[in-house]
Amino acid sequence: MRAIYPGSFDPATEGHLDVARRAAGLFDELVVAIGINPSKTGRFPVIDRVRVLTSALRDLPNVSVATFSGLLATYCRNNEIDLIIRGIRNKEDLRHEVPMAHMNQHLSGIDSLFLPASAETVFISSTVVMSTGDHK
Ligand code: PNS
Repeated sequence: MRAIYPGSFDPATEGHLDVARRAAGLFDELVVAIGINPSKTGRFPVIDRVRVLTSALRDLPNVSVATFSGLLATYCRNNEIDLIIRGIRNKEDLRHEVPMAHMNQHLSGIDSLFLPASAETVFISSTVVMSTGDHK
């Protein structure tokens, strides 16, 4: 089975890497895919996000790193993706993710599978990582 783990990864955190590693253990192939929103400037250039993910996950032979723009459902259909993986830390994440999963299911027929963040990473967020960094 070929799964996708999409996200902004701006920046990738230990929480993202933990979900990616666990998902890689569950499926034949995992595509970690950085979603690019052309109307939004990211904090980090996409090329840097690709480099960080590629380097951090280089020991996993069934993982590849990709970028996509436009709809995730379209990318999935064009790339023979069977399943979408998303990490869930809390009920706010779940509330945000369920409608997205419904939309992706509706658009592509592809289901989403939610992996709970591990206890060690559950409080990590890209936003908090960045705002902490701003004060240094
Ligand atoms: O890490 P994030 O910011 O929570 O990732 C969000 C992402 C990139 C997975 C999401 O915004 C996405 O899928 N964007 C692509 C556009 C799309 O398909 N939108 C419809 C989903 S309902």
